[in-house]
Amino acid sequence: MAEVKTVKDVDFSGKKVFVRVDFNVPLTSTCEISDDTRIDAALPTIQFLIERNARVVLASHLGRPKGEKKPELSLAPVARALANKLKKPIVFAKDCIGPEAEKAVNALNNGDVLLLENLRFYAEEEKNVSEFAESLAKLADIYVNDAFGTAHRAHGSTEGITHFVDTCVAGLLIEKELDYLGEKTSAPEKPFTVILGGAKVSDKIKVIDTLLEKADTIIIGGAMAYTFALANGKKIGDSLSEPDKVDVAQAAMDKAKLKGVQFLLPVDTMIVDSLDFGAKTVGNTQIIEGDIPDGWEGVDIGPKSTALFKEAIASAKTILWNGPMGIFEIEACSKGSFAVAESVANSNGTSIIGGGDSVKAIKSSGYSDKVTFMSTGGGASLEFLEGKVLPGVAALDKK
Ligand code: 3PG
Repeated sequence: MAEVKTVKDVDFSGKKVFVRVDFNVPLTSTCEISDDTRIDAALPTIQFLIERNARVVLASHLGRPKGEKKPELSLAPVARALANKLKKPIVFAKDCIGPEAEKAVNALNNGDVLLLENLRFYAEEEKNVSEFAESLAKLADIYVNDAFGTAHRAHGSTEGITHFVDTCVAGLLIEKELDYLGEKTSAPEKPFTVILGGAKVSDKIKVIDTLLEKADTIIIGGAMAYTFALANGKKIGDSLSEPDKVDVAQAAMDKAKLKGVQFLLPVDTMIVDSLDFGAKTVGNTQIIEGDIPDGWEGVDIGPKSTALFKEAIASAKTILWNGPMGIFEIEACSKGSFAVAESVANSNGTSIIGGGDSVKAIKSSGYSDKVTFMSTGGGASLEFLEGKVLPGVAALDKK
């Protein structure tokens, strides 16, 4: 991907700057923000623009209202959180296009910040309808995309709008994400250890394939390891697996052998005879090496696997982690993921957490402030690591 222009390449003084951010934050049942990481991640760009006397117009989606104006998915609580964080008033526009939004934007003074209401209250946003994108563009002299988490979507506010605004650049968050998930993993300082987990091989197969070209070691944990175990002729009891992906798992192991990439699978497993995810409880537990008996399922890596994985992590100069080692949301099954989190955090190398559940795992482990970089993307990080071009980035001006 050609290098894109960023906010550092543009003069913003007095300009209406439309900034696409990803304020798709998790909410509680009473519409409180339960994790404000994505708001914090957008602050450097917003501050940067305020300091340069821009008139800042922020736009985001929240949830999937599918074109309906759902009050519980209003961005108003985000406006309040942002005002607290920036310690300045935030104008909240109750619509993201039309006369009301235009009036509010035109009334902004230099250095003021406005947040538009949820873009997905219009179905035209996700459908990338050109008239909708043109209406958004009326609020912009300059377009900045800083919504890395949504950059894999070609929507009105991430792609369509760029056809109607002359200057379209990346924000500081997108610049950082592209640096860590792109540059630092494409030409990594070696040894490069990749840790992949999560439930499904099918979600990660393209990532494995791409990273097999660059990694020295690939570690596989989480439920996807059971599909690899099946490929190795092991019995996995009632563990989660994708029997139709056994050939894919085998192909990955064959490619690793061919490329001389060390491919580490769990050598022991924590198994349970029952589990209640809602109640966060498990029945009887055992640590087992080899075949898992029927009636039992694997829920975490065992201590020998943890020790093996820790060794490969400790010697790495670059580490990329995507996907937990087990059902870390249940305390009894969290040891493997938290031990991996600890060794990633304590490593002397560059540690990159590739978004989604692994970010949740490292945060719950308490080690998140010791890693080099945590991606704000879920699907976007995966697609980017697969080597796909993200439409929201491809639409920006090239250097
Ligand atoms: C995310 O949370 O991954 C992004 O905000 C994108 O949201 P979406 O999957 O609803 O498009």
